[in-house]
Amino acid sequence: MNGQGGSPDSVTPLDRDTLIAHARAVAAHAHAPYSGFNVGAALLLADGSVVTGANVENASYGLSLCAETVAVAKVLSEPWRGGVLALAVSGGPADAPGSTVQVTPCGRCRQVLMELAGLDGSDPLVWCDGPDEVLELRLSALLPHAFGPGALV
Ligand code: THU
Repeated sequence: MNGQGGSPDSVTPLDRDTLIAHARAVAAHAHAPYSGFNVGAALLLADGSVVTGANVENASYGLSLCAETVAVAKVLSEPWRGGVLALAVSGGPADAPGSTVQVTPCGRCRQVLMELAGLDGSDPLVWCDGPDEVLELRLSALLPHAFGPGALV
């Protein structure tokens, strides 16, 4: 990945297309029998590696995990590979593979992603896959005035 060793500003269109492809692919592995809505997330780390996650639902509905949260948990429970430069999210109905609905990270995921990004002070690009176009935002635009560790004085 071209983002290797760089900052969010060094991320390229190639990185975007690759991350979207990872997010689409991992969505197929979602465990979403209750919503029937598969989501995949792919995080590009500063060392050039990609960490993915898919949503994991539970019969006790409220325990379900979003794709982004699963990916963040994987990053933070493995040896540190550098901050997150960019991420992609892709989702759609499980019974219509390849049919993408534009998914922006839910509010809880925005907060969880912000915690990870804050570890190296980055403001990652967020690509939200969609049927017509990929929406590109900065995480800070998705969660302005975020609560963070700085408040815990
Ligand atoms: N979902 C995600 O995985 N990420 C989001 O940002 C939005 C929603 C999942 C949660 C649930 O398993 C399914 O999509 C339907 O809400």
